[in-house]
Amino acid sequence: MVGDRSEGHLPVMVEEVMAALSPHAGSFMVDATVGGGGHAVRILEASAPDGPLLGLDADPAAVARAAVRLRQYGARVTLRQANFESLGTVAPAAGFEAVDGILLDLGLSSYQLADEARGFSFRATGPLDLRFDVTAGRSASAIVAEADTAELTRVLREYGEEPFAGRIAQAIVRERATTPISTADRLAAVVVRAVPAPRQRRRIHPATRTFQALRIAVNRELEVLPRALEAALGLLRPGGRLAVLSYHSLEDRLVKRFVTRERRGCICPPELPVCVCGHQPRLRPVGPQPGRPAAAEVAANPRSRSARLRVAERLAA
Ligand SMILES: C[S@@+](CC[C@H](N)C(=O)[O-])C[C@H]1O[C@@H](n2cnc3c(N)ncnc32)[C@H](O)[C@@H]1O
Repeated sequence: MVGDRSEGHLPVMVEEVMAALSPHAGSFMVDATVGGGGHAVRILEASAPDGPLLGLDADPAAVARAAVRLRQYGARVTLRQANFESLGTVAPAAGFEAVDGILLDLGLSSYQLADEARGFSFRATGPLDLRFDVTAGRSASAIVAEADTAELTRVLREYGEEPFAGRIAQAIVRERATTPISTADRLAAVVVRAVPAPRQRRRIHPATRTFQALRIAVNRELEVLPRALEAALGLLRPGGRLAVLSYHSLEDRLVKRFVTRERRGCICPPELPVCVCGHQPRLRPVGPQPGRPAAAEVAANPRSRSARLRVAERLAA
């Protein structure tokens, strides 16, 4: 398998993604979350000898790593450090105006998880940052230091679906009054103490939902994804395919809603007697909605456990 453990990040559902996007010689492809380049390598191999690939990542360190990993493909590869919400402007500016396939592999890579300085892991003793793009926006430690109880509760409830959001928010506000919560391990410890004992004994770490919520807030994940999906649709040629891998239900729900809306004709509210929207179907869902990783992949790469793959094909205008 390309992208084995020695490469640091195992590309998830790579065979399914390749079957869905089916790149071939000359295909124009976009990997909007190039990360460690695992999927990109497979795409470039399949689109040899001349298929160009545009790789984006919000994380400058990921772009630098991908540049090294993809160096052997020379001028076929264009890399940009950018948020995929700006796909609609970044891709045409890089010469990718109409493309055959687009991949969004959401979330974070194993490199980011392992980087103590980013704070993605509960055990990290470095700063609680949680930004994909460390050059922009507000870090998680700023939110944890400044948000009031009501705001923290809302973030944990809305983005983490955390049943103990109120208790955790109160604990954060209480604890930060004496010592700042500026590292991931300290936040994890505060959450562990705040939740009831049975929750502490579960297999999933009690702080999982808190970290998910803060990561979503810091990276505006639920805002940027719909923009990226819309932009992707605008770039795809008829017959071109979009593949989206998501790792939590909030993101998967957005992708599902998008595909459901774009496969339909009229999207007027049901109470309207006649269509006024003029909406035309723009996508055809392809394969299972959603696809899930095979048991063998989950056993080999537990990180793939929560993956959901949705694929859709651009219809002719
Ligand atoms: C799961 S990893 C991708 C791994 C890659 N497919 C591979 O095989 O190596 C997700 C990547 O998406 C990037 N990312 C997350 N949100 C982003 C956004 N809004 N815009 C651009 N990149 C983003 C992260 O920085 C991370 O490197």
